[in-house]
Amino acid sequence: MTVLAVVGAGRGLGAAVARRFGQVGFDVALLARSQERVDALAGELGAEGIGARGFAADVRDRASLSAALDRAADTLGPVEVLQYSPIPQPEFLRPVLETTPEDLAAALEFSVHGPVTAVTRVLPGMRALGRGTVLLVNGGSAARPDPRVAGTSVAFAGESAYGQMLHDVLAGEGIHVGQLVVPGAITPGDARTDPAVLADTLWAMHTERDGFRRLARDLDA
Ligand SMILES: NC(=O)c1ccc[n+]([C@@H]2O[C@H](COP(=O)([O-])OP(=O)(O)OC[C@H]3O[C@@H](n4cnc5c(N)ncnc54)[C@H](OP(=O)(O)O)[C@@H]3O)[C@@H](O)[C@H]2O)c1
Repeated sequence: MTVLAVVGAGRGLGAAVARRFGQVGFDVALLARSQERVDALAGELGAEGIGARGFAADVRDRASLSAALDRAADTLGPVEVLQYSPIPQPEFLRPVLETTPEDLAAALEFSVHGPVTAVTRVLPGMRALGRGTVLLVNGGSAARPDPRVAGTSVAFAGESAYGQMLHDVLAGEGIHVGQLVVPGAITPGDARTDPAVLADTLWAMHTERDGFRRLARDLDA
């Protein structure tokens, strides 16, 4: 069975992507900090006919993230598609002049160490399969630094650089790495940023496997 792991899976985008991939036969590993919440979400998806299981992990705790991805692969099979999309914490979203080194260290743990840990853990399985997709999801400050949200602006730049480099070096191995940037808020009912619309975009990125970055809408919209 083919497996999608969503790192940072909640009721918004995480659930929508689980549905989109689940409808075409993927089993879905849902990772977030609360085992209770991912179990509840897995139960709801299961009632819709989607094979989903919850695995507790904190992306800022490398050991817990690695262990959860290992449990997911042991339970469901090797991860073919990895999506990294935890929702950033409020302290990463402070104005630049109010942002401390501690804020930046936490943002880097979240948006750089976390993705590197997750990719490092699933890459051997993708290589063994001979295929794979890594999908990074970020807000607009990944594409244009925003002094109102300094932590994400700095840390998303690192995540973007890591992803772009992975895109370039893994393309020849059948492993596609892409980044979806969502300027503004994810808004149910919006033609561009409804979670189901974004999930369709992520599915298209997985299947079309073209460039590295897609924007969900114009940065100035
Ligand atoms: N929401 C927006 O308006 C917006 C706008 C632009 C971009 N984005 C991007 O969209 C993605 C999120 O989509 P969404 O907002 O719809 O979220 P979602 O899929 O509904 O939920 C994301 C989940 O991330 C989990 N999470 C937060 N911190 C974590 C941590 N340290 N370790 C593990 N899991 C953690 C939370 O669960 P727990 O609390 O149980 O851990 C939360 O349920 C992110 O990539 C974000 O950058 C969102």
